[in-house]
Amino acid sequence: MTQTIQIHDHAHAEDGDRLCMSRRQFLLSGGALVTLAALPGFAQAQAIQAGFKRQKIAKLSALKVGEPVTFNYPFADVRNLLVKLGTPGGGGIGADKDIVAFNQQCTHMGGPLDGTYKPKYQALGPCPLHLTTFDLSRHGMVISGHATESLPQIVLEVKGDDIYATGVMGLVYGHASIGKA
Ligand code: FES
Repeated sequence: MTQTIQIHDHAHAEDGDRLCMSRRQFLLSGGALVTLAALPGFAQAQAIQAGFKRQKIAKLSALKVGEPVTFNYPFADVRNLLVKLGTPGGGGIGADKDIVAFNQQCTHMGGPLDGTYKPKYQALGPCPLHLTTFDLSRHGMVISGHATESLPQIVLEVKGDDIYATGVMGLVYGHASIGKA
């Protein structure tokens, strides 16, 4: 399978073949992303990510602060949540930049984080296995616990009232590469 790193502009996300990234490639690109993110004026960032076929996942008007909606993406067995944080979040979309989406499998050993969202703290967890908690307002970074990697963040786009998933930033637990189970 061809593996590439895509430098992806949100404004140009198009339907098409999914792109793949190995673990090594992802780790290398992560450093580049952090470096770029530290630069002034990086707001409408070009993120390094794996792009997948665009998928409509929710209506903007139906979202309520602190009430997550679940969806599967980019594969049927990959569970995610979409949530309006009520405060701006890293990678957030919408007028308030507070709508974000993340994979719901813990990055430590794949523990199920479903149903653990804490709206008061914009946090997901604690994981039922070893208690890791993730900050959804800061790209899913670890707040506490055994995990060392942030949750994979689902890249979102809004068109009118429709919210689309267009890619994944990070490695989904149990997948040797983003694009291959
Ligand atoms: S599997 Fe979640 S903390 Fe270990």
